[in-house]
Amino acid sequence: MEFEISQFLDKGGVLRGRDNYYGTTYLYIVGQGLVPWDVTDRNSFVGGLFKQRDSIPLPVSARLGGDTTLHVQMTAEPDGHFQQMANNLGYENGQPFVLGRRVHHTSFVDGTHDENSANGVFADTLGKSGNRYINDRCADCHERNGRAEVAGVGQPLDMWVFKVGDAQGNPHPLLGRVLQPEANGGATSEGNAVIASWTELNGLRKPNYQFNGTQPETFSARLAPQLVGMGLLEAIPESAILANEDVNDSNNDGISGKAQRAIDPVTGQTRLGRFGYKAAATSLKHQVAAAFNTDMGVMTSVMPNPDCGSSQTDCGSSGSEIANQHLDNLVKYIGLLGVRGQRDYNKPEVIQGKALFESIGCQGCHTPSYVTSQYAPFAELRNQTIQPYTDLLLHDLGAEMADSLGEGEASGAEWRTAPLWGVGVSACVTGGVTGLRGNAPAFGLDGQEVCTPKESYLHDGRARTLDEAIQWHGGEGTHSRANYNALSPTQKAAVQAFLKSL
Ligand code: HEC
Ligand code: HEC
Repeated sequence: MEFEISQFLDKGGVLRGRDNYYGTTYLYIVGQGLVPWDVTDRNSFVGGLFKQRDSIPLPVSARLGGDTTLHVQMTAEPDGHFQQMANNLGYENGQPFVLGRRVHHTSFVDGTHDENSANGVFADTLGKSGNRYINDRCADCHERNGRAEVAGVGQPLDMWVFKVGDAQGNPHPLLGRVLQPEANGGATSEGNAVIASWTELNGLRKPNYQFNGTQPETFSARLAPQLVGMGLLEAIPESAILANEDVNDSNNDGISGKAQRAIDPVTGQTRLGRFGYKAAATSLKHQVAAAFNTDMGVMTSVMPNPDCGSSQTDCGSSGSEIANQHLDNLVKYIGLLGVRGQRDYNKPEVIQGKALFESIGCQGCHTPSYVTSQYAPFAELRNQTIQPYTDLLLHDLGAEMADSLGEGEASGAEWRTAPLWGVGVSACVTGGVTGLRGNAPAFGLDGQEVCTPKESYLHDGRARTLDEAIQWHGGEGTHSRANYNALSPTQKAAVQAFLKSL
């Protein structure tokens, strides 16, 4: 059965009401429940339009996010992929999800919503960022939940986080653990960092940074990443991740893989790290509380102390500034976003690319699939077969990828294997909708809106194409990179087509 639901809001009586706002279609199969569907016939792209047919279930192999997987994109909004709720979102989680969404989109300086000023001021967030912070909204860094675009030379890096340290890698006496350029409440700014220039080598480029305030002895510069499948990554059993650990490379495949470990600020216990480019956060709650703390200058019950260097005195006071409910709703929102299904799954080139990805050793780190734990806190995420393409372990990618500041168990050269789901649609999410196709008459028609893709791969966005991202795989990635470079041009294109289908 196919259901289409639309809201009808009273035009006269409701704020921004209208006869029909939005439609959502669900496919329900008796005995299976709600299943993500496909409806496009990719072979019938005629005159700028897809011919539509009845909905068919997305094959299980294309459901990258298990039952959370979203149906095929039909809204002609090429930048909306990462903002939808899980297909199987539980009824009682709908309200916390949208309340968490509001927190994500609200400024913790002036309380405004970034999508529509008619939403009014959210008093609970007003005046909470400070005394120092980087940006005042989650969604200003994670725009449309996508990864940030690399800023131009000399431009402010307000969608980046610079982790900083002294010569030993301990918190910097004048900066703390994170560089926070914005200041209020009588505090002085810690100064800014910019990309001063790019070093070009063999067609690749690498950023050089410049600090206009205190120059930290060690640092690690990181671009805001896409927020895809976060709850599912949290739901992978620890045992499944540790099973791939091979710290001393005892199987001699040139790939070690080391688990990150960190103290969970909620329980005080040492746990497996999963989130962030060096996997330093143990849970989504930890990651979100840490973002509030250092990136936005908002204290929570989980992390109630400001990021303050030993020689700083104007950091502001300790103690939670927001209700736990807001933190919990935000964690629910981030955790229960849906994952876009694989596209072009029937295309021979994509099928070939997937086989090559495995045979040249990419899956040595980009582990294709897991079954999530039956004990995951959110019922929607339990017992799901998911395809994140990461082992969540740390790998040494060589000197060219290294920065000067390690984190926990990770050295400067070690990074968490990037999950690859969503990588193929990320460029349009970052770039945003910028126009209409050809002589299309209006917005809102299938396949008519176009984006300007902005590609930024790896932790600092240095890779401008997927091929460049692969070329930066040194260290433990050297062997699979060599295998990739030995492929024919057609085979390389197939690997890239597979990555773009994710
Ligand atoms: C100043 C920009 C900035 C702000 C503001 C910010 N983030 Fe982030 N976010 C980042 C960066 C950079 C990382 C990578 C951090 C790391 O490697 O430790 C990140 C990482 C994350 C991750 C983990 C992603 C992964 O793949 O492991 C989540 C989840 C997240 N942020 C959510 C949030 C939420 C929710 C907020 C608001 C409370 C927020 N962020 C505010 C820049 C930002
Ligand atoms: C030794 C482990 C390892 C192997 C083998 C490996 N990767 Fe990676 N890959 C990583 C790590 C770690 C990162 C994250 C680096 C960073 O954050 O800067 C990454 C990042 C990427 C990215 C960028 C993702 C993003 O979101 O920016 C792509 C694309 C990618 N890998 C594709 C491949 C392909 C294709 C292969 C096979 C040719 C491969 N990788 C082999 C560990 C590996």
